[in-house]
Order: sequence, then structure tokens, then C-alpha cells
Amino acid sequence: MPSKKIKKARKTTAGQQATTDLHSALAKLNFHDVFRFHGERPRGSDFHPSSTLFEGRFGRMFRTLPAAEFAEEDLKKLAGKMVAPAEARATSENKDDDEENQGISAGYTYLGQFIDHDLTFDPASSLQKQNDPEALEDFRTPRFDLDSVYGRGPNDQPYLYDDDGQHMLLGRRLTGNRDPRARDLQRNRPESGRQRALIGDPRNDENVIVSQLQSIMIRFHNSMIDSMPRGSTFQQIQNAVRWHYQWVVLDDFLPAIVGREMVHAVLPHLKNKTSIHEDKPNLNFFHWEKIPFMPIEFSAAIYRFGHSMVRPIYRLNTTLKDRNKIFLPDKKNSLPQENKSLLGFREFPSNFAIDWRLFFKMGDNPHFGPRRLQKSYKIDTSLVNPLGHLPKPIGDKVPSLAQRNLIRGWRMGLPSGQTVARFMGIDPIADKDLRIGKATEDDTATNPAITEVSGRFAGNAPLWYYILAEAQQAFEDNSTPIRLGPVGGRIVTEVFVGLLLGDQHSFLSQDPTWTPFAAFANNDNEFGIAELIKQAQNA
Ligand code: HEM
Repeated sequence: MPSKKIKKARKTTAGQQATTDLHSALAKLNFHDVFRFHGERPRGSDFHPSSTLFEGRFGRMFRTLPAAEFAEEDLKKLAGKMVAPAEARATSENKDDDEENQGISAGYTYLGQFIDHDLTFDPASSLQKQNDPEALEDFRTPRFDLDSVYGRGPNDQPYLYDDDGQHMLLGRRLTGNRDPRARDLQRNRPESGRQRALIGDPRNDENVIVSQLQSIMIRFHNSMIDSMPRGSTFQQIQNAVRWHYQWVVLDDFLPAIVGREMVHAVLPHLKNKTSIHEDKPNLNFFHWEKIPFMPIEFSAAIYRFGHSMVRPIYRLNTTLKDRNKIFLPDKKNSLPQENKSLLGFREFPSNFAIDWRLFFKMGDNPHFGPRRLQKSYKIDTSLVNPLGHLPKPIGDKVPSLAQRNLIRGWRMGLPSGQTVARFMGIDPIADKDLRIGKATEDDTATNPAITEVSGRFAGNAPLWYYILAEAQQAFEDNSTPIRLGPVGGRIVTEVFVGLLLGDQHSFLSQDPTWTPFAAFANNDNEFGIAELIKQAQNA
């Protein structure tokens, strides 16, 4: 939950001057974001922050560190062990589920996925060919600018916008959550095939939950039009939306995932309640020359931590009789069975409107029963079974998400987790403590060590696996909240903060003392994802 108090209301967010102190301080840092393998200019390096291009570029955070070597068969075996066996029956809503993370509610998983889609998109994510980091272009700007929602704007993609050039378009009415204005995304109407969403990023329709977060963001934009002074331009409205979203990322999502202490370690002015110019940000590892890039370590490994937070089953609202499985195995994935799952890329049943009170803390929920607040699954080295068998529209030729992540990190030449930890001055976790499996009281004692999968993993663990195992070290009992640890948490925080500081349009660059509109805040004067949703529901 957000803790920072909102001091004052501000209605004008656009047109404010860049804080030159901060920028000159950043300019003095002598950093490179060149790729490690060759001196040639990487594709996308002509990207300019004020250009309207969709793309940014990838780079390396730890470019002096050697790539970890693995045998493909070892990675496949490890991937197999990281996918939990299918469960015969989902845990009842009237019992504690020991796989739930008591520190993070279920909505943050998909807020995390939504944020990922705002920052990074490598459409050539094919495992069939050798990945060449030189050719990798990020088809999202590595900025918190909601390009996944706005697309290229009303002039370039008018079909996302109403005739007034300000309101964004939505689709049919959804029911089931007692929100009379709930809407699906707008979709195409092909004569045959799937009814794909018409949105800024196709991946934001990958499942029913991220899809409805996308429509909430669109509604937040539409509601902002009424909260701004009459005559505000599209850019002013968009800027206000972006700043509120950036606030949620920094003050709500990030503390939930890494802990507030880590956020304060990187941004000490927030803890000391001083100015960002006095108490400067501590970016020890994320450095760039002119504009920040998307670190490949982040997109190909570390930020994929969210895959372990996915639950196998969700309750969307209290009017549906049953809960819904996230995905069904492919052979069952034809209608009408498909309608029981949360698979996206299609027009799902209209009574699937999400009751957000079951996903984010928005009031009081009973501990058990259909109105309980669902938690995300723990950040650990275990993925729920459906992610080992992704259905066709998502999984393509390699249906195991664990395998895709491990092979991808290896093909991208990422350093091992231990190498990164040592570089950061953190003692690497001993091999015997690097276990595979769920962070639960039942499993912890018997989870095998990674070296039992292959001796070649001794002192040499894949980065994605390592940051999950690192988070798991916090486990004491089933009620311990599990967040990212010192390596994973630090990298995610530095990348988020770096991308905000390096974006000359972000609130942290333009007006670091800015706070969200007071009218949007809750009774404790806080603004987080819960308040953003409540505000969006006015539109
Ligand atoms: C049901 C939920 C999800 C599914 C089915 C899913 C599936 C996928 C798939 C198939 C890929 C491409 C993998 C590859 O070929 O390399 C991917 C990439 C990725 N996912 Fe997820 N994901 C989910 C949730 C999340 C969450 C919650 C997060 C983070 C909080 C996340 C972060 C990422 C990242 C960073 C990438 C790489 C993005 C890029 O640069 O293209 N995902 N995911």
C-alpha cells in the first residue's frame, strides 16, 4: 500500500520545466550503454526521447561480466522441475492456501505484467533462432509512458480514439461486478477467427485480467478529462494520467514487490523527506550515456519474476458461480471449455467483469469465502502447472514458460546469478541453499538443490532462476511475505528509478515534489492502484 502522504493538489502537470540540476548531475556520470560484443552502433540507437517512434533499445547493465555457459539439456531439465505438478483440485476458498504470498495481493501480478508491456517488447522472441543482442530492438519505449495504452496517439492511430480526439474507445458492456460502466476492450469482428482487441499492445489482451487492467487504464484516461480544467489539451490530459500511473508504480507497486526499504535505499530523499537534489538517487549499477536503455538482464530474466506469482485459478467476481482456471491445456481449449478459462486474445463471456476488490485491497474483505482478497502466489522457484503448457495462441512451439525463460536468458548471453551477486558486492547464495520448488512448509525440507539437476549448475545458476531462489531465502513459514531479494530487488528498483529519471517528461524529472490530485486520494491521503481504479470507475 502506498505510504507517502499527498501534500497538495496540483491541476497543471504539463509545461513544467525540466529540473536542470538533476539532469546536469546525471550528465556528469560517465557511462556507456553500448553493447558488450561489438563496437558497432546498435539498432535503435538513433532513438531520441522526443521522437514519436514506438521503439527504444536494449542494452546491458553488466556488460563486463562473462556470459554463463549452460548445456541446453540441463536448462530443459531445470525448467521441468520448476513447473509444479498439476493439482487435482484447487484449494477451497474456505481454507488457507499455503502457496499464497501474504504480502502481495493477486492484482499486483497483472499490474506487473501490464508495466512490463509498457516498458519492453521483443516481438522476435523466437527460440528457434540464435538470439543476437545487436539486432534486438525494444518495440516499446523504455519509459513509463503508457505507449501500450496510447499507441502512437490520436493522429496516428485514430481508431483507438473518439471523434473528439481525446476520449479513448472501449468495447461492449461487461457484467457481474456491480460496476455499471465496466467495459471490454474494443475488438475487431472478423468473419472467422478470434476477436482480437484493438489496443496499443496486443499482449495486453493475453489474459482476461491484464485485458481488464488495460480497460481500467483507458477509463482512467477518460475520467481524467473531467478532472482537468476545461480546454486542457490531449497532451496535458495524457501527462496527468502518466504521472499518476508513475506514482502508482513508484509508491505502490515497487514497494509491494521489493519492500519500501529497497526503494528508500535507491531514492533516499523519500525516506529523509528531503529534496532529490540534496539526497541524490543511488544508481550503483544502472548507468547510461544520454538516455536510458532497456537492460536485457531485466527483460530476459529478472523482471520475469512475475511468472512465479501467477495462480492457477482466480475468482473474477462474486456473481459467477465458479472460479476460472488461468489456462486449460490445448486439447481442451476449444469452445465451450475455453469459456471456463481466462485465456485472452478473444471475446470472453460478458459476465466476466472483474470485481477489483477481490484483487487489490480496496476495503475490508472477509478472510474466507468468495469475497476474500485473493493473494498472488509466492515469488519462488515454482511455476503453476498451466504455465508449463501454454495454450497455442501464447505458447507457440515451446509451450513451457520456464523453458522459454531459461533458454532465452542463456541465448542472450546473460551472466550467472552468482556472477551478478558478486559484482554487486553481495555474497552469492551457497549451492546447497539454491533449491527448486514451492516456498511452503510442506515442500521446503524436500525441495531438491539445483546441483541435483546437474552438477554443472554448481556456482553457476541461470539469472532468472537465481533471483527467484534468492526471494525464497526469506521463507520462514507459510505466512512470511516473500518479495524480491537484494540482487533482484535492487536491479528492479534501479531500472524503474533510472527509467523515470532518464525520462525528461516523468514527474520525477520535471517536478519531483509533485503529488497526485488530492481529490483522488483515500482517507489516509494516499493514492495507489486501488484509488486509480476507483477514479477510473467514474468513466
Ligand atoms: C499469465 C501470465 C503470464 C503469461 C502467460 C506470460 C507469458 C509470457 C511469454 C509467453 C513470454 C515470451 C517468452 C519468450 O519467448 O521469451 C513472456 C515474456 C515476458 N514476461 Fe510474461 N507472462 C505472464 C505474466 C507476466 C508477469 C506477471 C510478468 C512480470 C511481473 C511478466 C514479465 C515478462 C517479461 C519481462 C517478459 C519479456 C518481455 C519482452 O521483452 O518481450 N510476465 N511472458
